[in-house]
Amino acid sequence: MTNPVKIVETVLRDGHQSLCATRMRTSDMLPVLEDLDKAGFYALEAWGGATFDTCLRFLNEDPWERLRTIRSHVKNTKLQMLLRGQNILGYSNYADDVVTEFVKRSVANGIDIIRVFDAFNDTRNLRTAMKATKDAGAEAQGTLVYTISPYHKDSDYVRLAHELVDMGADSICIKDMSGLLAPYACYNLVTALKKEINIPINVHSHCTSGMGAMTILKAVEAGVDRVDTALSPFAESTSHPCTESLVYTLQGTERDTGIDVNALYPIADHFKHVKEDLIKTFNLPNTSGVNPQVLSFQIPGGMLSNLRKQLAEMGVGDKYDALLKEMPIVRKDLGYPPLVTPSSQIVGSQATMNVIFGRYKMIPKEVKDIVLGKYGRTPAPISDELKEKVLKKGQEPITCRPADLIPPQMDKMRQELADKGYPNASVEDVLSYASFPEVALEFFKKNR
Ligand code: CO
Repeated sequence: MTNPVKIVETVLRDGHQSLCATRMRTSDMLPVLEDLDKAGFYALEAWGGATFDTCLRFLNEDPWERLRTIRSHVKNTKLQMLLRGQNILGYSNYADDVVTEFVKRSVANGIDIIRVFDAFNDTRNLRTAMKATKDAGAEAQGTLVYTISPYHKDSDYVRLAHELVDMGADSICIKDMSGLLAPYACYNLVTALKKEINIPINVHSHCTSGMGAMTILKAVEAGVDRVDTALSPFAESTSHPCTESLVYTLQGTERDTGIDVNALYPIADHFKHVKEDLIKTFNLPNTSGVNPQVLSFQIPGGMLSNLRKQLAEMGVGDKYDALLKEMPIVRKDLGYPPLVTPSSQIVGSQATMNVIFGRYKMIPKEVKDIVLGKYGRTPAPISDELKEKVLKKGQEPITCRPADLIPPQMDKMRQELADKGYPNASVEDVLSYASFPEVALEFFKKNR
């Protein structure tokens, strides 16, 4: 009996987010949407993450319109999106009514699967989004954000997975955003999860450190149900393993994907031209190659180059090595958060301030908020030194679910938009405004 691996194709979202600064336009997708639909993928990841922001900010596109367009051409394959839990697509927590409405409208406009994650793996931050997803009739995929620390053993992930199952997750994703998940570690983790968890497991890994394809293959050997890959032009480097190569690898085995690799080549050819055009049009750096150093520093690849650039711009380029040593210290002091948006930026800016001004001489608001519990539970306790610096005398961090303290926001957003001249804004426009206020207003000025 065969047990086909299901493929989640990411070319419409993470593929170009990883390699082309999320600049792919709807018009670049249109010519091959029907072919993608026919190829036999389990799902197309098509929305969420940075695509929403980039549509409005740089492409003068309505992200909701993009979703409806994709849906109208992709009739059979599931459409998947990525959601930052209570942060939706932004960088801080929203009220429950905004999260619920966002999820509802996403499903109504065409989404079938919502992958929900929280940077700290605080499952309380996933609860509202997961419930709304299920209420809307879509698949709620709970996420284990992968990182390496003394507080992230396989048993910790299995415990987290049980929490997600108890919350009603329909499937679980192991999300390895920086390519830290080593092949044998992946084999062991998937094996441990498959032993106790009875819903499908999906592995999402990146090739940043050069291990991606090996990691995915070991996931397959361990019995993983679904894997994320990208068609060749948008694969490898900081993106995912290549779809065609994996389909070919599994041909004739008991994990054969059932996809005809020959049908993928013309689609890949199309995206090859798209990529060349995007690099030229938006003057993007050509990201190729492998960066095994992320394994030592556990810092996302894109972030290393950003930090180096920022330091150079501030005239302290010589602090780069000190910064690389400071990052793990700050991460430890903050309770070992996985480094993913927004925690990666927060740890990065604190570490930068430390090497320039002295350790914790300056503390950004976001770091204070983490210490105050406003982002949720950190994986490990926060260091006493940092707590002493941030908490005022007698002040205690909050221990409840952070969003419990945020009153409803939808009516306020609707009113704000009306005051700015858009009294009849659609719910989708209100949600765009709630997510990225200034950017959305600029977009409305040009398009409404
Ligand atoms: Co990713």
